[in-house]
Amino acid sequence: MRRPPPRTLRGQLTAGLVTLLALACLGVGITTALALRGFLMGRLDDQLSASGGRFAASLEHEAKPDADNRADTRGQAESTLGARLLNGKVTQAAVVDDATDRHLHLTAGDRRILAAVPADGHGRSIRLSMFGAYRVTAVHGDDQDILITGLPLHPVEETVHRLEAVEAALFGAALVVTGIAGAVWVRVSLRPLQRVAARAAEVAGLPLASGEIAMPGPLPDTDPRTEIGQVGTALNHMLGHVEDALTRRQASEERLRHFAADASHELRTPVANIRGHAESALRHPGTVPGEVHHALERIDAESQRMTRLVDDLLLLARLDAGRPLEHEPVDLTLLILDATDDARAAGPGHHWVLDLPEEPVTVTGDAHRLQQAIGNLLANARTHTPPGTEVTITLLTTGPADVSLSVSDNGPGIPEELQSEVFGRFVRADHARSRSTGSTGLGLAIVHAVITAHDGTVALASRPGRTTFRLTLPT
Ligand SMILES: Nc1ncnc2c1ncn2[C@@H]1O[C@H](COP(=O)(O)OP(=O)(O)O)[C@@H](O)[C@H]1O
Ligand SMILES: [Mg+2]
Repeated sequence: MRRPPPRTLRGQLTAGLVTLLALACLGVGITTALALRGFLMGRLDDQLSASGGRFAASLEHEAKPDADNRADTRGQAESTLGARLLNGKVTQAAVVDDATDRHLHLTAGDRRILAAVPADGHGRSIRLSMFGAYRVTAVHGDDQDILITGLPLHPVEETVHRLEAVEAALFGAALVVTGIAGAVWVRVSLRPLQRVAARAAEVAGLPLASGEIAMPGPLPDTDPRTEIGQVGTALNHMLGHVEDALTRRQASEERLRHFAADASHELRTPVANIRGHAESALRHPGTVPGEVHHALERIDAESQRMTRLVDDLLLLARLDAGRPLEHEPVDLTLLILDATDDARAAGPGHHWVLDLPEEPVTVTGDAHRLQQAIGNLLANARTHTPPGTEVTITLLTTGPADVSLSVSDNGPGIPEELQSEVFGRFVRADHARSRSTGSTGLGLAIVHAVITAHDGTVALASRPGRTTFRLTLPT
């Protein structure tokens, strides 16, 4: 099924213009045709009443054989019809033809029509089978007879038709010209509106949610006396407000980032000191009550956890601030081998399977950050799955300038409702267990930030029995 064309404002205005003009033309056409017809009919009636039935009266004598008593056609126009009625019946009828009269053999229908004309001297239009449309008047004669005089209507019709034809041609041309000129005119008048729409679309397409945004300049169409100017002014105001809000948001994000970076940086030293003191207290040679020893161990463990947390926060704050990364060739194969060795040592209960290409794969980037990202994925595969789980690390060259690294396990999987937000900060499935596993909920956020900073992508596919994190990196 074909869809109807869209109802653009331009199309509607042009169509409206042409329709209005067509209606006006129709009105003018009908009025002028009616007026001309009325005028011509009036003239015909004047002619008929001027002739006063003379021709019809003369027909009475013409019936006699005397040649001098022919019908009086003098002064009668060509095709004038004359008829004489006696007692409601047509007795004589003739038509002026080539300067002579002609007797008519009227049909019964024509006789009836003539007999029905009222003898009041007013013009009437009738249609005779032989001669077509006629304008006739009937008057009372001297001998109780009725005299009918008629003139043909076809010259009137012809003139009116001619006027109609001329008007049709003229109005048709006017409509075509108006259609074309109107379309151009409407297009030119709506151009500022298109500018406004284009600007609005441009702003709507900007990624306003984050980062620094370069807003387009104000619109030039701001004359408040025009409708488009009012829209333009309103849009300019709105753009101003949006820009203002964006600047404030940007500033507050900046402050927050600085705060997070400063806070985590400042926390590092006291946390390291606590840890140092706890360690030296634990090394105390004398006998220490059991509870004190236990408390010192807890302090040591928690300060280690806090060190990791602070380090992770600082790293995220630095990545957020868009700190430039190292830009060096990194042997990804070697990185993975090292990371798997560490994971194997930390989780001997898991099966670690490597699937690496023959040739070493290198990418350009920050080796230390990439190592951290891979380490986080392997740590997750170890800490969030039971012993005995098989973890497969696959490295593939997927294109001339792309590599793909996936870490896959056959553990319990990530709950479905968590999957969409698992790369967010402090997101984890089991808060209660986080204490024992040393979980912070920052690991995957760091993976995401590091890989995005390398112009790569991170994807997750997880169901019970198969969880796969896939990273792609440009080489
Ligand atoms: N391989 C995995 N198997 C099951 N769950 C996982 C796996 N990897 C991540 N998760 C879930 O995603 C959450 C977020 O992971 P992450 O950001 O690394 O934080 P953390 O490991 O510190 O809890 C984890 O708490 C865990 O619930
Ligand atoms: Mg983790």
